[in-house]
Amino acid sequence: MRVGILGSGLMGAKLGTLFARAGHKVVFSYARSEQKLKRLAREAKGAARAATPAEAARDADAVLFAVHWSRLDDVLKRAGDLAGKVIITCALPMNASDTALLIAHASSGAEALAKKLPRAQVVSAFGTVPSEVFFDVFDARRKAKRSSLLYCGDHQAAKDVAATLIRDVGFDPVDAGPLRIARYLEPFALLMGQLAYEGDEGPEIAYRFERFGR
Ligand SMILES: NC(=O)c1ccc[n+]([C@@H]2O[C@H](COP(=O)([O-])OP(=O)(O)OC[C@H]3O[C@@H](n4cnc5c(N)ncnc54)[C@H](OP(=O)(O)O)[C@@H]3O)[C@@H](O)[C@H]2O)c1
Repeated sequence: MRVGILGSGLMGAKLGTLFARAGHKVVFSYARSEQKLKRLAREAKGAARAATPAEAARDADAVLFAVHWSRLDDVLKRAGDLAGKVIITCALPMNASDTALLIAHASSGAEALAKKLPRAQVVSAFGTVPSEVFFDVFDARRKAKRSSLLYCGDHQAAKDVAATLIRDVGFDPVDAGPLRIARYLEPFALLMGQLAYEGDEGPEIAYRFERFGR
């Protein structure tokens, strides 16, 4: 797949690198330094390059939306026409000080993004784990018991694209249902942040669901 990365920070840099290592063609975009984007592309050790947000989005089969909520309008403006695109968002609708969700209960960041992009197919994924764990999950991808990763969306074809990328990073994708379920995923992501950053055990944490009864 061709994957465009909008926002090459903690999340976008790591996920883009792992997508490239899994064999996808990755375009890193939207950082404050072009040098950084070029370095990421070089170090991804796969088919990766640095470009503008518009170029990253243009031919992409999937676009990873990985910017701070405050950058939403700026990055969308720079990305240009996203009609028909699969947009995978890990962005949480946090306030400027990253202390609270600006959108919750009756909507979610993923739904707000989908409203801004009515002709795109938005999937919420990857935001429920801290960036620090992605390489560990990737390294453990051949183990029998994989970490779970929740995702949700309203378009099955887009969800299938997301599930492939989730699997390629090393997770077991868990389909949580339609996009409105992001109202539950996003607060859960804050719980994961609490466990990752407020405890003594380090941020390398993921989760795994088990089902009983069948
Ligand atoms: N970090 C996590 O573990 C985590 C977990 C779950 C969800 N999330 C969500 O994922 C999203 C991305 O988080 P993150 O931690 O990856 O954020 P981040 O490290 O701050 O990355 C954001 C990217 O946007 C770029 N950027 C910021 N301002 C810019 C500007 N004015 N012009 C151009 N580029 C600009 C940054 O550039 P530079 O590279 O130059 O800084 C960076 O590449 C957020 O919505 C967050 O809530 C993060």
